Amino acid sequence: MTSNARPGASRRAVLKGGLMGAAALAGGAAASRAAASESVITEIQDWNRYPGDGVDARPYGTPSPFEAHVVRKNVPWLTSDTISSINFTPLHELDGIITPSGLCFERHHSGVAEIDPASHRLMIHGLVEKPLVFTMADLKRFPRENRVYFLECAANTGMEWRGAQLNGCQFTHGMLHCLMYTGVRLKHLLDEAGVKAEGKWLLAEGADASGMSRSIPLDKAMDDCLVAFGMNGEALRPEQGYPIRLVVPGWEGNMWVKWLRRLEIGDQPWQHREETSKYTDLMANGKARRFTFEMDVKSVITNPSPQAPILHGRGPLVLSGLAWSGKGRISRVDVTTDGGRNWTTARLDGPSLPKALHRFYHEFDWDGSELFLQSRAIDEHGFVQPTKDQLRSVRGANSIYHNNGIQTWHVNSDGVIENVEIS
Ligand code: MTE
Ligand code: CO
Repeated sequence: MTSNARPGASRRAVLKGGLMGAAALAGGAAASRAAASESVITEIQDWNRYPGDGVDARPYGTPSPFEAHVVRKNVPWLTSDTISSINFTPLHELDGIITPSGLCFERHHSGVAEIDPASHRLMIHGLVEKPLVFTMADLKRFPRENRVYFLECAANTGMEWRGAQLNGCQFTHGMLHCLMYTGVRLKHLLDEAGVKAEGKWLLAEGADASGMSRSIPLDKAMDDCLVAFGMNGEALRPEQGYPIRLVVPGWEGNMWVKWLRRLEIGDQPWQHREETSKYTDLMANGKARRFTFEMDVKSVITNPSPQAPILHGRGPLVLSGLAWSGKGRISRVDVTTDGGRNWTTARLDGPSLPKALHRFYHEFDWDGSELFLQSRAIDEHGFVQPTKDQLRSVRGANSIYHNNGIQTWHVNSDGVIENVEIS
């Protein structure tokens, strides 16, 4: 607003200019702004008259009841039960880059394991000099690190391979979260056990009833993987693997084994279910891409989007979204409002951390005409998010996993939004 101020104007004039600016803006934003005579301004409200709850009414705080709609959601027809299932992060309700702990999407193959940390152990064995078993207390005596990383399920956006399907970024892109993890470098634990020269792979196994397991190259395990016990400053949530989970930065979510109980060192991958029948990409020629660990550069506009239509009419509009790359930082995000004819560079805001979500904004005046919104992310290594056609020309139509194609939202003149495809 202070852009209305002229050089040399007095502070009072600046303030006045600012207020007039605000009034002009309100006019521009049509009828959506309430008049200054509205009763919530002119009459004293109950919360303004009576004292509220004292401290300790909520020993562990929860969101305002007015935010009760901000929840994870599943798509009931996707899976036959909720034990081996998925729900989705409400991306359209969030801002910044950190996902609130209670809103992280959940992907369980056998439900949530409820584990008493006192009876949890982590074993390291196989091609090591000294097989070891750690208690939780043992793990907390290693040097700790705090790191922010995104986790994306390889199946995120998988339902959209053959065309637009689910109406909302929660459902198309919500197998995604980004947290501050606290934990110890996996390298410290492996060094303690002493990996033998023949050791080239690591098998990570969970303590849940599915005993989920994945083979991970030793180089990655020694590089930036963490055994995390904390998220967003507190203990992991049960849904996220309490008391410990593996953090495999930039790589597909399936490898981030929750309720981690066993690490075995071997000289080759184990070829378990999750890396053969699942998490492989069937190509047009019938062969499958395998061990496609890294998550590609990707972005999505979270607002406006099908679950977050434009309710305020014409005038100033804040477009916002998320971008990420398993290879490192995001260097640029472009957005288009006309389905890709013209692109402008969006404004990145907030921390830019490698292998973490990045937040972008694009502010513009909506004239009430129909829009085709898209975003396109570019990472620091120059990788550009492809169109869905570009992706299909390389990978065919059989794939589910690793769909990082450009997403389109169609906005009609009433501000109602739908998932469509422009390739
Ligand atoms: N680890 C165990 N032990 N069991 C599981 O079912 N699901 C995996 C992975 N780790 C899973 C697991 C999959 S497919 C994904 S995408 C992520 O955990 C999901 O992590 P989240 O539930 O924290 O979102
Ligand atoms: Co997954």
